[in-house]
Amino acid sequence: MHTQPLLTGQVHVWSASLVQDPSVLAKLHASLCADELARAGAFRFDVHRRRYSCGRGILRSILSAYLRTDAASLRFTYSATGRPSLNGAELEFNLAHSDDVLLIALSGGLRLGIDVECVRALSDMSAVARRVFSPGECAYVFRDGTPDPRRFFRCWTRKEALLKASGCGLQDHLAAIEVLQDQVTFDPQEDGCCSGSFGLCDVESGNDCAAALAVLGPAPEILNFTWHEGN
Ligand SMILES: CC(C)(COP(=O)(O)OP(=O)(O)OC[C@H]1O[C@@H](n2cnc3c(N)ncnc32)[C@H](O)[C@@H]1OP(=O)(O)O)[C@@H](O)C(=O)NCCC(=O)NCCS
Repeated sequence: MHTQPLLTGQVHVWSASLVQDPSVLAKLHASLCADELARAGAFRFDVHRRRYSCGRGILRSILSAYLRTDAASLRFTYSATGRPSLNGAELEFNLAHSDDVLLIALSGGLRLGIDVECVRALSDMSAVARRVFSPGECAYVFRDGTPDPRRFFRCWTRKEALLKASGCGLQDHLAAIEVLQDQVTFDPQEDGCCSGSFGLCDVESGNDCAAALAVLGPAPEILNFTWHEGN
């Protein structure tokens, strides 16, 4: 697999489909470690098992190409909130999936978070919006008293990307953070979470999805790539 050099101040965003041929899925599955295989095996539904294995396999494929190492040899560690990182490598990454869309963001040391959500109707969208969005965000999301799904998921993914960059898993801060600006100060004051000024931007996902990236520091240069088996 060919990768461009990951330069200082850059973020590479890879998109991939979680629908792959059985032979590709088998190869990806073979690169997972024991705890990933156990987690995959614990899913009740095949679709979730397939998406998880495929996502982790593609993550390993991409990381191993940048690090020029074997995909199966990579070892992840996890924060108390479940944020994965690489043992002993400078490379920072985060991943997100929605339905069969996978996004992976990488940087050479910039703390980051990514989120993607397929735009869809939710029966409780109004109530969720009022719970997780600030008054300013609600003014943006609601039109004539009804939430606009695209605007809803734009705000949602920006918020989730920020939380993932910080490493939070808790939901206490949601309405207190304003994510419509491109530079946001976030100070969760939680163990293991990162505070500071985060650059926020929308990401092109190539589908009917909303996606966003958050990076600790100023907004980075973003380069987009698409993963295919063998590229
Ligand atoms: C942990 C959390 C951030 C994951 O979000 P999600 O939408 O369920 O799933 P995503 O597809 O975006 O991301 C999942 C990936 O993020 C990574 N991840 C897991 N926990 C993480 C954390 N605390 N921080 C950053 N990344 C995390 C993992 O790689 C995971 O994928 P994998 O387990 O398949 O490898 C989320 O469940 C959560 O706790 N959110 C709290 C905030 C909230 O309620 N937001 C609502 C709207 S703003």
